[in-house]
Amino acid sequence: MLRRLYSEQPASFEFTPANLAWAEGQIAKYPEGRAQSAIIPLLWRAQEQEGWLTKPAIEYVADMLGMAYIRALEVATFYFMFQLQPVGSVAHIQVCGTTTCMICGSGDIIEVCKRRIAGKPHTLSADGKFSWEEVECLGACANAPMAQIGKDYYEDLTAENFEKLLDQMEAGNVPLPGSQAGRYSSEPAGGPVVLAEYKGTGAQYNGSVQRAVDIGDTIKRIDGTEVPLLTPWISKGAGHGSVPKAPAAAKSAVQQAADAKKAEPKPAKDKPVSENGVTKQEADATSTGTPAVEEKQPELLSAAREGGADDLKKLKGVGPKLEQTLNELGFYHYDQVANWTPAEIAWVDSRLKFKGRIERDGWIEQAKILAAGGETEFSKRAKY
Ligand code: FES
Repeated sequence: MLRRLYSEQPASFEFTPANLAWAEGQIAKYPEGRAQSAIIPLLWRAQEQEGWLTKPAIEYVADMLGMAYIRALEVATFYFMFQLQPVGSVAHIQVCGTTTCMICGSGDIIEVCKRRIAGKPHTLSADGKFSWEEVECLGACANAPMAQIGKDYYEDLTAENFEKLLDQMEAGNVPLPGSQAGRYSSEPAGGPVVLAEYKGTGAQYNGSVQRAVDIGDTIKRIDGTEVPLLTPWISKGAGHGSVPKAPAAAKSAVQQAADAKKAEPKPAKDKPVSENGVTKQEADATSTGTPAVEEKQPELLSAAREGGADDLKKLKGVGPKLEQTLNELGFYHYDQVANWTPAEIAWVDSRLKFKGRIERDGWIEQAKILAAGGETEFSKRAKY
C-alpha cells in the first residue's frame, strides 16, 4: 500500500498551548539527547489536534525533536494509525476486514460504508463528516465483525445496527461502544458454557465500555482546546530529560502559555485543582524545587577565559546540548556556576526550562568541588 503525503496541504501547523505543554512533558520523559524517542506520541497528538497528519505537522514535530524531516516522515508513513489525508470531522471508521470478521460479515459493513460514506476508502463523505477504511485484525475477533470508531471498538456489527450507529453519530450523539448484540464482553453468543454459575460483578457494562461511558468522548479528538492534559511526572519533578525549544512558529504560543500561567490566581493550599490531585501552589513548588524568587541575571561572559572553557559535562545532568546552551548563555566555567545565588539560579532555570534541575542535581555543590580542582563521584565515573 502506498502511503504518501496528501496532495493538498495546509500552510502551517502549530500545537495549541495546551498540546505544546503536553508535548514538552512527553519529551521530558526521556534522557538528555533522546528527545527523538517522543516522536510517536507527538505525531499522534498532532493528528489528534488536526484530525490527520499534515506535512507541516510532521516537519514541526521533527523540528521540535531535532530530527531530519525524512526521519519523521519515515515514522509517519510506516504506521497505518497515522492518517495522511483528511478524515471525517465526526468520525473515521476503521472496519476490520481480516479472516474472522470477513467470515462473520465485515463485507456487509463495508458495503454500508461505500453506500453511506464514500465509494472508496480514505475519501470524505459529501458532507465531510465521515470517512472509512478497511484495516487488519484489531484483536476483537471473538466479537466479529467489528470496527474501531474514534477511540473505541464497536462489536457484533450487522448492516442494520451499523447503520443505526451512523445515524446516531450523524445526529451528534456518541453511541455506546462494545457489543451491539447485547453481549457483556466476549462470552459465547448463546451465553457462557463454563463458569456459568459466576454472576459477575453485577455491573451494567464491562470495564472498557464503562470507562468509555464515563469519559464520554469516544469519537471526540483531543484538539488541544481543553484540559485535562495530564503530565503528573512533571509536577512531581520526576522528568529527567531536556525539553528542546519548540519551533520558531510556536514560540509565541509557549510564551502565551507561560504568561497565562503566571496570571492565574493561586488556589488555597491543600485544595486539589487538577485530576492528579496537585494544587497549583504545590505544583509550582515541586516543579521548581524552590519557592518562586525574583530572577537576577548572573554575570555572563562573551567567551571562555584564557586557558579555555571548563568541561561543564562533568556536572551531573549536563549533556553536550545543555553544555552548548550554557555556553551560549555566557557560562563557561565551574566557578561561574558555583557562585550562582538563588535569584541567579532562578534566572538560569527560566531560560533552560529545566525547572528545579539545577538544585535537584546539585550543580552548585558539584561546581564548587570542580572549581577547586577536585572530582565528584559523577565526574570520576562519567565518560564524555
Ligand atoms: S479478524 Fe477482525 S478483529 Fe480480528
